[in-house]
Amino acid sequence: MNSAVKAGAVIAAAGSGERFGEKKQFKRLRKRTLLFHTLKPFLECGDVSEIVVVVPEENLALVSRELKSFTSAKPVKAVVGGTRRQDSVLNGCLALSNNVEIIAVHDAARPFVTSKLISATIDGCNDADGCIAALPSKDTVKKVKNNQIQSTLDRNVIWLAQTPQTFHKDVLIKALQQDMIATDEASMVEAVGGKVAVTKGFAGNFKITTHEDWKLAEELIKEK
Ligand code: C5P
Repeated sequence: MNSAVKAGAVIAAAGSGERFGEKKQFKRLRKRTLLFHTLKPFLECGDVSEIVVVVPEENLALVSRELKSFTSAKPVKAVVGGTRRQDSVLNGCLALSNNVEIIAVHDAARPFVTSKLISATIDGCNDADGCIAALPSKDTVKKVKNNQIQSTLDRNVIWLAQTPQTFHKDVLIKALQQDMIATDEASMVEAVGGKVAVTKGFAGNFKITTHEDWKLAEELIKEK
């Protein structure tokens, strides 16, 4: 990426942990919190000039204090999230400096992201409105309703979306402000006519969702 273009990162960490049973982003994965492990590659990535972490209101004071204790060459701050993920991401985007032109959105629950993958999504914005990490599907994907298969998707064109999902700021903010409920940012940018590219992610960049995922992450962190 042209180094004159400023990229900021928004780490979505404002989930309530309903499915997991607790707010896993603040739970310790070995020595540090899950959120810290996720932040590290963003702190190390030379293409990211500042970071906003979006957290639940009740965690804001503590997280802000912890972030202040980091020695980081780039600004890192915390802001309060919203009801839906897209509300949290919008709050994060609006808290970045005015000179940020590219925004990389990432799930706090994906601690194994690498600086290289973050940079690849930023680079992908050179000739598109956005670029996301995604993985070609190894499995055949079925559309199912009431336990009945409705259709089978052509595996050759199926990619599983991960994060970072990185976009030009203006198109991302416009997309997040529309009246639509979505599970990722790319679908919102697609809905406003944006052109979004993919760059190959990797299986290790999985989202910790279940306790089984947490156990696997503990094993992998040991090896890191
Ligand atoms: O629920 P889902 O798996 O899509 O959550 C992905 C990420 O979005 C998590 O890291 C979670 O903390 C974050 N999130 C958020 N604000 C919400 C809901 C989820 O920042 N209101």
